[in-house]
Amino acid sequence: MKKIVIANWKMNPQSLREAEDLFKNVKKKSSKLKKVKIIICPPAVYIERLRKLSEKTNTTFLGAQDCFYREYGAWTGKLSPKMLRNVGADFVILGHSELKSLGDTYDDINIKVKLALKNKLTPIICVGEENRDNQGTYFSMIEKQILSALSGVGSQFSDKIIIAYEPIWAVGKDAKKIISPEELIQIVIFIKKILADKYGVEKIKKINILYGGSVNFRNVEELIQKSGVNGFLIGRDSLVYKNFNNILDIIENS
Ligand code: PGA
Repeated sequence: MKKIVIANWKMNPQSLREAEDLFKNVKKKSSKLKKVKIIICPPAVYIERLRKLSEKTNTTFLGAQDCFYREYGAWTGKLSPKMLRNVGADFVILGHSELKSLGDTYDDINIKVKLALKNKLTPIICVGEENRDNQGTYFSMIEKQILSALSGVGSQFSDKIIIAYEPIWAVGKDAKKIISPEELIQIVIFIKKILADKYGVEKIKKINILYGGSVNFRNVEELIQKSGVNGFLIGRDSLVYKNFNNILDIIENS
């Protein structure tokens, strides 16, 4: 299975020109990679243009950062899964902690997952605890998030979902600390167990479990070699193409 690296550009960059430059620099690198699949998730306004730039390669894909939980109708400011699909997205990030903090509920995320699948978008489902305590209550929180996001999602879709474990304490510029491979491998095993109970052991071999939260070119090698994840969701370092390409090289050669 190819490793997966997702770039979550969040609300960056501010112009199409900059977005094109960043994308072209990553695309140049991606055409040389054999073991890594790259999914760029720019602000939705750039997807169509970047999709045109990516057409000649099958190594760089596009994703959206969210979609709405209704398919049609009078919803000011919202984007439906089908619209995103029609402008060229193949993937969509759902349940990111920054959107949960703005009000996205577990139910909303579950509906979005189902609508994404219905519209042929692969959902990248973000899960992760806010804090850790010594009692390990974060395990039950992660389980609840996964099972509620996948409620009503049958095993015929199990190879079309990606789980991204993103502990909130490790995400973004205010991250409290970097996760260790030992901490991460426990969670990867735990997530596999939840998915195996739901879909069966055979099915989970095809489900990608990724990690996100302060991944950079200094820590990525240890994480890919020792933690059992199949790739990463990267925020800040996906905006600096030299750093991002450096990360891609490290993963390709690990
Ligand atoms: P970060 O963001 O790499 O800047 O910590 C990751 C994310 O929010 O997906």
